[in-house]
Amino acid sequence: MSPPSVETASEAAAERSLFPASQSRIQRLRARFHQIRKFTNALCVDLEPEDCVVQSIPDVSPTKWHLAHTTWFFETFILKKFVPGYRAEIPEYAYLFNSYYNAAGDMHRRDLRGLISRPTVSEAQRYRALVDSHIDDLLANPDEGLLDEIVPILVLGIHHEQQHQELLITDIKHVFAQNPLYPVFRQRNRDIAAKKIDRIRFIDLEETVTAIGHDGDGFAYDNEGPRHQALIPAFSLATRPVTNGEYIAFIEDNGYGRPEFWLSLGWMTVNEQRWNAPLYWIKRDGAWWNFTLSGLRLVDQSEPVTHVSYFEADAYANWAGARLPTEFEWERAATDSPIDGNFVETQLFHPIPVDSAGSEGKPGQDRGLFQMFGDVWEWTRSAYSPYPGYRAAPGALGEYNGKFMCNQYVLRGGSCATSRTHIRRTYRNFFQPEKRWQFTGIRLARDLQ
Ligand SMILES: [Fe+2]
Repeated sequence: MSPPSVETASEAAAERSLFPASQSRIQRLRARFHQIRKFTNALCVDLEPEDCVVQSIPDVSPTKWHLAHTTWFFETFILKKFVPGYRAEIPEYAYLFNSYYNAAGDMHRRDLRGLISRPTVSEAQRYRALVDSHIDDLLANPDEGLLDEIVPILVLGIHHEQQHQELLITDIKHVFAQNPLYPVFRQRNRDIAAKKIDRIRFIDLEETVTAIGHDGDGFAYDNEGPRHQALIPAFSLATRPVTNGEYIAFIEDNGYGRPEFWLSLGWMTVNEQRWNAPLYWIKRDGAWWNFTLSGLRLVDQSEPVTHVSYFEADAYANWAGARLPTEFEWERAATDSPIDGNFVETQLFHPIPVDSAGSEGKPGQDRGLFQMFGDVWEWTRSAYSPYPGYRAAPGALGEYNGKFMCNQYVLRGGSCATSRTHIRRTYRNFFQPEKRWQFTGIRLARDLQ
């Protein structure tokens, strides 16, 4: 089976008919806004109210909170700012649904979000609909003088909502994983057979000085710039991510019990947390099973391994005689890779085996790299730091990225829970090294002697 593509001719035609070139910029943006908001609601279509209020760990937010917080973002940064005389129907939502924007006022404690039974899920949905209609009114009769200010914030709000769509998916997975009934978020929409995967290959890339960061064409987060020159010494990069089968070999070689492979902090974490496998793996009668958004399934050895921490990714790489790539190596290697693959649009909500035969010869695959985009976020060994010349913008929206540039690592490429229209070659995701509830995986690199 070929890897699912969201760039089929019929889908491209549907996209064109939804946003014909004759529409004004603001009409297209209005349609885009509603499309993104509807997709969030569509993700929740099989969830019951009881599912939407649980917070299983502080990192995980209840579905209801995501529904309301993304709405708060549009209300706070657009309606309150640009609609004369706008009054929030329920002013207390500003406190409940602010996440971390100190300049926007006080906020409720993140780790207590699961204790909030009111507003109810249906009230949160009502809040969404109300704010949507106000945004719609604003865009239907825009003050031309304000549009240049409104549009960038609206676009940021749309990308913010896409980020929360991914979090909603990974958070409900963590919630469901606590339940011995192993609820199904979404039935698989197709069978994907396990397959034999060829041995991992590496390709060599020569030393170069290249531009890193966003070139300013289209939307990007502030952390993707400024674009700057970077020296990237020669290195080699694995043509695909590490599979479950390869990771099982690490487990069976006592990888979790041998400190020589682990960073000191990682070794402490492994022992404190008693990790012996990726998150969501369960051993039953000698076989590995994993909890997926389609329920509990036998581990498919041909799928990319996922739900591993930076510590596990780094330890695996050491065991395999390799290392993780830097984010600059990754971005340089991805230059010719098409932004195509298993994204949230496939609605599989799980990584799938590489189809190296099916993808070979595709435009942009001349380097022979597979699954650079989609399936699993790839841990890099790069600390999440500002690029040279970076300055966070003043005000609340300047808090979006810059203040998190400490004690986190960069991940690249997006996952099976990321929207294809959300990811870029320059996109920098970031998490602390012990986190593993996102769809995080491993691509190996090596130094060239
Ligand atoms: Fe947010």
